[in-house]
Amino acid sequence: MIIAHTVAELRHALRHTERPAFVPTMGNLHAGHLSLLAQAKPLGDATVTSIFVNRLQFLPGEDFDSYPRTFADDCAALEQAGCDVLFAPREGDLYPEPQTFRIQPDPQLADLLEGAFRPGFFTGMATVVMKLFMAVFAGKPHGTAMFGKKDYQQLMVVRGMVRQFALPVDVVACETERADDGLALSSRNRYLTEAERAESVQLVQALRALAQAALAAGERLPAERPALETAATAQLAARGWQPDYLTVRRRADLLPPRAGDGAGALVALGAARLGSTRLIDNLEV
Ligand code: PAF
Repeated sequence: MIIAHTVAELRHALRHTERPAFVPTMGNLHAGHLSLLAQAKPLGDATVTSIFVNRLQFLPGEDFDSYPRTFADDCAALEQAGCDVLFAPREGDLYPEPQTFRIQPDPQLADLLEGAFRPGFFTGMATVVMKLFMAVFAGKPHGTAMFGKKDYQQLMVVRGMVRQFALPVDVVACETERADDGLALSSRNRYLTEAERAESVQLVQALRALAQAALAAGERLPAERPALETAATAQLAARGWQPDYLTVRRRADLLPPRAGDGAGALVALGAARLGSTRLIDNLEV
């Protein structure tokens, strides 16, 4: 595996590659990331994984400083998984000057849900993804980028950006990897205490119950949705969580369902804090 720190080193490593298959990450790799890499392999003539903890997408007071950085373990895991190129820029390599030009995602999508609770997150995320895409794909006839469905809204923002800027990149959505009890794999799971880890599965269980209730409501879903969401949120809060939202939305635009939106068109999404750890998850319905 070639390790590139600068964009020039990356481009040199990829000089004979025509169709990079790219897995952007913030490191602290787990089975979810490695599954993205495994799915990337047949889709390009070289795999590239990036590791970069992007300050721009963290709010003041969030976990930028404490975000787990496990570079040596990540390198070993990528090497073993057969990654061809690791792009691990230092902050000054990716942001040699203050980033005054930014990608401003459509507020109709980016101000909802995660964007409402983490203002600026999607701008910071989309800006670094654009920079990473330019580093990996510029001058290439075609590329593929892998994104997990766990960050559902992120995936939709990236898809919108790729579409509107006509980037020559196929965005592939990959299913969420889960622990045996159903908890979605996430680098932030390592913040959980033992007791919190045991409790953490309640988020996906609450989403499952909400999804079932949404399906059962059928045509009445637009009218009954607020009450179903309030009940789901209250149940989680009663267990000691601090929910930001538990909601049923349309997969197409993350807006509330309308009459006729049913199975195949919906997604239940949730974000909640357990102790000091904020977890997010979703289930397509
Ligand atoms: O999902 C992530 O790990 C990050 O948001 C990403 C896409 C690597 C951008 O920093």
